[in-house]
Amino acid sequence: MTSSIWLFGYGSLIWRPDFAFLSNRVAWVDGWSRRFWQGSHDHRGVPDAPGRVVTLIPAPGDRCGGMAFEIDADVATGIFEQLDYREKNGYERYQSPLVFDDGSCIDGIFYVAGEDNPAYLGAASITRIAEQIKRSSGPSGSNEEYLRNLADALRQHAIDDEHVFSIERSLQ
Ligand code: BEZ
Repeated sequence: MTSSIWLFGYGSLIWRPDFAFLSNRVAWVDGWSRRFWQGSHDHRGVPDAPGRVVTLIPAPGDRCGGMAFEIDADVATGIFEQLDYREKNGYERYQSPLVFDDGSCIDGIFYVAGEDNPAYLGAASITRIAEQIKRSSGPSGSNEEYLRNLADALRQHAIDDEHVFSIERSLQ
């Protein structure tokens, strides 16, 4: 039997995984909330004008929905090296249980940019976050495209996230 590792995506990985996987399923991580609190100087902004991308913040009682990808253990090291490079701007790997819609659970890995990383921007009002997203753009494209891709992907998988959807409404 192939041994596998589960990687949880809650941001761009949901709509652009960019790696080979054996299967994928909607999953949840308990005790975390998704927030547009991480600065992006290298993808959706530039050093003088960073954009905002998502990270997870500890939030007892809340949960974050995303996509869990089952990866063949034989190729996992290469995939993590590629992601470590792609997300080099402050993200670190965490390990935690992933909960599936049927209630079953498996250990998974996800990336978190904590408040001590240099690119961290932290909390701001929904209006301010939307304004920053509206004006930001970087080598990977506009920050608004990132937000809209994320909101569309969440809707497609029936994952509710008031933080993301309220920023989207603020952009209209
Ligand atoms: C993700 O889509 O889960 C992701 C977010 C930040 C860094 C790496 C991956």
